[in-house]
Amino acid sequence: MLLKIVLLLALVAQVLMLDNGLLQTPPMGWLAWERFRCNINCEEDPKNCISEHLFMEMADRLAKDGWRDLGYVYLNIDDCWIGGRDTEGRLVPDSKRFPHGIAFLADYAHSLGLKLGIYADMGNLTCMGYPGTTLNKVKQDAQTFAEWKVDMLKLDGCFSTQEDRAKGYPMMASALNATGRPIAFSCSWPAYEGGLPPKVNYTLLANICNLWRNYDDIQDSWQDVLSILDWFVRHQDVLQPVAGPGHWNDPDMLIIGNFGLSFEQARAQMALWTVLAAPLFMSTDLRTISAQNVEILQNPLMIKINQDPLGIQGRRILKEKSHIEVFMRPLSEEASALVFLSRRTDMPYRYSSSLGRLKFPSSRLYEAQDVFSGEIITDLNTKTNFTVIINPSGVVMWYLYPIQTLKLSKWKS
Ligand SMILES: *[C@@H]1O[C@H](CO)[C@@H](O)[C@H](O)[C@H]1NC(C)=O
Ligand SMILES: *[C@@H]1O[C@H](CO)[C@@H](O)[C@H](O)[C@H]1NC(C)=O
Ligand SMILES: *[C@@H]1O[C@H](CO)[C@@H](O)[C@H](O)[C@H]1NC(C)=O
Ligand SMILES: *[C@@H]1O[C@H](CO)[C@@H](O)[C@H](O)[C@H]1NC(C)=O
Repeated sequence: MLLKIVLLLALVAQVLMLDNGLLQTPPMGWLAWERFRCNINCEEDPKNCISEHLFMEMADRLAKDGWRDLGYVYLNIDDCWIGGRDTEGRLVPDSKRFPHGIAFLADYAHSLGLKLGIYADMGNLTCMGYPGTTLNKVKQDAQTFAEWKVDMLKLDGCFSTQEDRAKGYPMMASALNATGRPIAFSCSWPAYEGGLPPKVNYTLLANICNLWRNYDDIQDSWQDVLSILDWFVRHQDVLQPVAGPGHWNDPDMLIIGNFGLSFEQARAQMALWTVLAAPLFMSTDLRTISAQNVEILQNPLMIKINQDPLGIQGRRILKEKSHIEVFMRPLSEEASALVFLSRRTDMPYRYSSSLGRLKFPSSRLYEAQDVFSGEIITDLNTKTNFTVIINPSGVVMWYLYPIQTLKLSKWKS
C-alpha cells in the first residue's frame, strides 16, 4: 500500500513538473498572430500570407536589423501552419505554404542565431479549425516538435473541455520534458478558465508552463491595450506574485508598429509591458516598420529593465484623481522602474509628486534616468518635489537608483 502511494506520488510529481531551466527572463521575439492572423491567401497576397517565406523574411530582419542582438530571438509561428496528419498520425505543415517543412525553418532560424516557436491546440481543432492535439496525440506531437528542433510551443485551448485542458496541459509539459529537448512552453490554459483562482491554479501553472496567457487576445487598438492593462491591475494581488524567472504572466503581443497606436500610445505599451515583466513578442511587419517604432522597441535601457534578473513583476502603486497612474517595478541593485501614465485626453499634464509620496525609503539619495529621453534627474531625496510632463495617453518612464545612503539622525537621540 505504502509503495503504491509512493509510486503514485512519484508519478504525479513527474507529470506536474516542466523544470526545463528556460526563460529565466521574459522571452523576446516575434509572433505572427496579431499582425498576420490566418492570412492563407498566398495567390493574391504572397508577401503577407502565413508561409515559410514570411517567417524567413522576418528571421532575416530579426538577425540583420539589430533585434537578435538585443534579445529578440524567438521567431514564433501561430495558427494556420498545419496541413494535416500523415499516415502515421504525425502533424505535417501545409505543403504549398511550407514546402520545405518545419525542420527546415528551424534550421534556418538556428543558422541566424534565432529560435523557432510553433503553435498547437489542446483540443479537437485549432482556433482556426486546423487539426488539434487531442489527449491521445500529446506525446506524438511533442516528439514531432522535438524532432523538428523547435524551441518553443504555444498550446492554445480552442475546441476543448475544462477536463481535457486539466489533463492535457500537464500531460504536454511532461511529454515535452520526456523528449529531452528544452522546449519553452507557453500555455493558453488560464485564459480559457477566466484567468483567476479558484478555477486557475497558478502554483500548478508555474510548475508546468514557462509563460501563460491569462486574458483576452490583444487587438490593434489602444482601447485593447487599456482593457488588458486594467484587467491585470484589477487582479494584481493575485497575478503579481505568481510571475518570476522561468514562469511569466503574458498580457499578449506588442502591437507597436501596426495601425492602432499613436506614438505616445506605442511608448506607453512598451513601458507598461516592461514594468509588468511581460514577454516582449512583437507582432508587426519588420520589413516596413518605421524608425520611430524601431527606436521604441530597441531602447536598450527599456530592454535592460524588462530583462532584469530578479524577474519581479511591477504593480500600479497609485491612481490619482487627475487620471495619472503610477506603476513601479523593483529591479536588481536596489533600482526600480517608475511609469507615470496619463489617461487624460486634454493636453500634456504637469504631474508633481515626491518619492516619499511613492513610498520610497527616506534613507537614500536617488537619481533617475528618463528611459525615453536619457535625461538624468539627480539629487532626489524623498522630500524633493519633482514634476513630470505626461502627454495624453502617454507615459514618462524613469529608471531610478540610489546614489547614496543618507545618515539619518533618528537613531541618535
Ligand atoms: C525534465 O525534468 C527534469 C526534472 O524535473 C529536469 O532535470 C530536466 O532538465 C528536464 N528536461 C527537459 C529537457 O526539460
Ligand atoms: C471533440 O470530438 C469528440 C469526438 O468527435 C466529441 O465527442 C467531443 O464532443 C468534441 N469536443 C469538443 C469540446 O468539441
Ligand atoms: C495547486 O497546485 C499545487 C501544485 O500542484 C497543489 O499543491 C495545490 O494543492 C493546488 N491548489 C489548489 C487550491 O488546488
Ligand atoms: C513640496 O510640495 C508640497 C505641496 O505642494 C509642499 O507642501 C512642500 O513644502 C514642498 N516641499 C519642498 C521640499 O519643497
